[in-house]
Amino acid sequence: MNDRGSMGRTARLVADEAGLAEAATILQRGGLVAFPTETVYGLGADATNAEAVAGIYAAKERPSFNPLISHLESFEAAKVQGIFDETAQKLAETFWPGPLTLVVPVAPTCTISDLARAGLDSVGLRVPAHPLAHALLKATGRPVAAPSANRSGRVSPTDADHVLGDLDGRIDAVVDGGASDVGVESTIVACLGGTPRLLRPGGVPREAIEALIGQKLESGSEGGEKSPLAPGMLASHYAPRAQVRLNAADIMPGEAAMLFGPKMLPGSEQAKAQLNLSKNGDLKEAAAHLFSYLRQLDASGAHTIAVAPIPEMGLGEAINDRLRRAAAER
Ligand code: TXA
Ligand code: MG
Repeated sequence: MNDRGSMGRTARLVADEAGLAEAATILQRGGLVAFPTETVYGLGADATNAEAVAGIYAAKERPSFNPLISHLESFEAAKVQGIFDETAQKLAETFWPGPLTLVVPVAPTCTISDLARAGLDSVGLRVPAHPLAHALLKATGRPVAAPSANRSGRVSPTDADHVLGDLDGRIDAVVDGGASDVGVESTIVACLGGTPRLLRPGGVPREAIEALIGQKLESGSEGGEKSPLAPGMLASHYAPRAQVRLNAADIMPGEAAMLFGPKMLPGSEQAKAQLNLSKNGDLKEAAAHLFSYLRQLDASGAHTIAVAPIPEMGLGEAINDRLRRAAAER
């Protein structure tokens, strides 16, 4: 079973001009395309299209919304999305294109969706060196969000067969570019003011970075996929100011309401604000709206955001995980 029923099987695209053009078209239309980078194969979606990004989580069966890395064609294109301080600029100029991801504050001109950033005010950016990745990004003409192209909990894929072994029938296409040569993921460095922090070791060695910037990187890999979170070092999740009340059966006076599905909750007429994640009860649409609706309801000034029950299936698991954290973060 997969939830892309009508899409049929995953196309294996030849890595020539026609194949790349087709891959770019699929991405522009909101589809999912796996493609080679010099580290591992990424599972790409248009980063500016939240529903397309929701498709990544659905295909991977990721039970939570981690912030994703957005891939760009050039440093110029990256500067539209993020703010580069002196250190970040130096790192970008030296190691891009290449296996380095920089987490920087979002720029006012940022077009990357809230969902790809997991609601954060920072953004993970990378300019890959692989010629096919570069050609695809250029043809697509927008940032492409891409985690490793494996199902959650499995190893990162380094060739198209690995990708199909995990995701055949769940994504639209894979660009077959042979084997990736680094095989480990990109190094992730956060440049958010103060000392830059190594969030995940990877393709660019720590020593090379420290030699370039003339200082030691802070350690503490919060946000790294495999490492435990160390709260307070770097906000890895957007936390609303309001309290969050889950599985609400009705709305109390003064609350803001986050609804789901066609049913209105009793009391929602008098809510301070109300938004429906998906009137049709579509979990993908709900995921696409989640972070921006949390922000909007928070901005209403309500002391509490009451959230209608959301089914614990498919993307609902990741949505509920996020909401439970919002309810607990205090
Ligand atoms: O080599 C790679 O980096 C591969 C290829 C496809 O580019 N991609 C990859 O993506 O490994 P992924 O989704 O598996 O790793 C994303 C990690 C998140 O777990 C998080 O640690 C970090 O990137 N990240 C991204 N944006 C962030 C942000 N705004 N703040 C903190 N961490 C962020
Ligand atoms: Mg991964």
